[in-house]
Amino acid sequence: MSEIVSEEENRGLILLSVHRSSLSLTLHEIKRSMAPQLIGCFLVFLLYGSVSGKECTNTPNELSSHTVRAQLMSTEKQSWKAHALSDYHLNPTDESAWMELGRREALNKEVGIEEFDWLMLYRSMKGFGGVEVITRQRGEDLLSEVSLHDVRLDPDSMYGRAQQTNLEYLLLLDVDRLVWSFRKQAGLSAPGEPYGGWERPDMEIRGHFVGHYMSASAQMWASTHNRTLYEKMSSLIDALYECQKKTGTGYLSAFPPEFFDRFEAIKSVWAPYYTIHKIMAGLLDQHILAGSAKALQMVVWMADYFGNRVKNVIQKYSIERHWSSLNEETGGMNDVLYRLYSVTKDPKHLVLAHLFDKPCFLGLLAVQADSLSGFHSNTHIPVVVGAQMRYEITGDPIYKEIGAFFMDVVNSSHSYATGGTSVSEFWSDPKRLADTLGTENEESCTTYNMLKVCRNLFRWTKEMAYADYYERAILNGVLSIQRGKEPGVMIYMLPLGRGHSKARSYHGWGTKFDSFWCCYGTGIESFSKLGDSIYFEEKRTTPSLYVLQYVSSSFIWRSAGIELKQKTKPVNSFDPNLQVSITISTNEEISFL
Ligand SMILES: *[C@@H]1O[C@H](CO)[C@@H](O)[C@H](O)[C@H]1NC(C)=O
Ligand SMILES: *[C@@H]1O[C@H](CO)[C@@H](O)[C@H](O)[C@H]1NC(C)=O
Repeated sequence: MSEIVSEEENRGLILLSVHRSSLSLTLHEIKRSMAPQLIGCFLVFLLYGSVSGKECTNTPNELSSHTVRAQLMSTEKQSWKAHALSDYHLNPTDESAWMELGRREALNKEVGIEEFDWLMLYRSMKGFGGVEVITRQRGEDLLSEVSLHDVRLDPDSMYGRAQQTNLEYLLLLDVDRLVWSFRKQAGLSAPGEPYGGWERPDMEIRGHFVGHYMSASAQMWASTHNRTLYEKMSSLIDALYECQKKTGTGYLSAFPPEFFDRFEAIKSVWAPYYTIHKIMAGLLDQHILAGSAKALQMVVWMADYFGNRVKNVIQKYSIERHWSSLNEETGGMNDVLYRLYSVTKDPKHLVLAHLFDKPCFLGLLAVQADSLSGFHSNTHIPVVVGAQMRYEITGDPIYKEIGAFFMDVVNSSHSYATGGTSVSEFWSDPKRLADTLGTENEESCTTYNMLKVCRNLFRWTKEMAYADYYERAILNGVLSIQRGKEPGVMIYMLPLGRGHSKARSYHGWGTKFDSFWCCYGTGIESFSKLGDSIYFEEKRTTPSLYVLQYVSSSFIWRSAGIELKQKTKPVNSFDPNLQVSITISTNEEISFL
């Protein structure tokens, strides 16, 4: 840092700017070398920031709730809508708050703001211009996930039935209806009727569910090898390919690119990158799990388009402007781009992934501050999942610590007994959850995302506490969200208040074709990968296997050449023992494929 500003008095200042605009790679260096008084200065600043409004959020909190935004899209009350949207304003960014402290001169004395931004960008990026990625010491004991292609759930088990119900739902949905708005957007003829709910043609978030559908169907295909589903998902990819080709720029969405103009101008719009993340992730999953070369080509083309958009924002305005735009929900854009990079090894994808690592949020976690209350939970958990991918890919330990600290804070201070988190989509005061018990608890999307955070930590540490959390959260917060064996009927929030019922919350039970909430998207994914995180492999010279969950299933353990069958008896209140039997056969015949 001293290259930029040499005077001691200015060091604290640069530090603040780092929090504001650098990637946390630099933060890590600072953390190590920082004198205690500078940490003090940093924390005081954070406190100051919290007085003037929640950082990292462009929208007033009420408006960053999906529930409220869906209400706004549907309301007949035009005056409410106009009022809500006109009240839309930028909360003070770190920069403007800093300027109010009257220190601008000090900053400008050394380097102009614009220049400074560029310098920061340059410094953050030069490390990987030539893909100078730190290669993580791949410890022998890192656990690898096993392929869903090799796991089969017992159809008579609770897990097997939940998977089957979801398969039936995926098969009920119609390709023409799913892609209706994509075709309209591309200027193609769109036969059939669009779906309702959040997929309705006037919903700004339309298309998000289609992204989830691609992920869910790829996972379900791997889990069942159901040919009917394979054909359906292939024709969905073909239809979307036609839309992307017709548009001709790489852009693929059910809403117009103007939404991104609004996003980049820090104007009101409902989370366009959130939806793009789902579409890109869906395409990538279709490639990884179902071998679709076309889907890979499509997602790479999308990454080109959005890479150019981000580059233009930075060149035309500043990196600062780009970071401000990220204060609108962007889902796991960093996560999908890191995953894409691990497939393509194209440094452009890595740089773009870094540009979606939201520094104002990850920075707080890097300095181990619990500032979660007031944040929109499901906006930020995926950012942490992406940061974890950054650790896996670059080996930078700060991102491992960020994930561990985050999990610890959520578990110790923001979780219910069920393992779930969030109230009305937000985090509330730490360790004060009793007052929040009602109908709008633990949004199921947040459970879906916390499970991702948790399973990564388990893979890296093998600590049983993570396995316990995983089991608790999946049993209470995933298996509970379907209504019996009825395909396409799920909840959004899990009511936890005394005497409340799933049927009588704000959303209640959803419907097959007219809900498509965010939690329908994550729901169809969750029930398509119930075979995940039961087994993990340790690929040493002598391979070993970890059984994380007791679920009746079978698993082909290829590296050991054996097939394993697990049978778990349903738990009874009168039997204090959990009865599990595991049979191993060394039959070389691999029967699933
Ligand atoms: C796919 O699953 C559905 C629902 O269980 C079933 O009716 C159908 O026969 C399966 N398709 C194939 C090709 O097995
Ligand atoms: C979560 O908190 C509980 C209660 O304090 C503790 O027993 C458990 O180990 C924690 N789990 C994780 C993953 O931190």
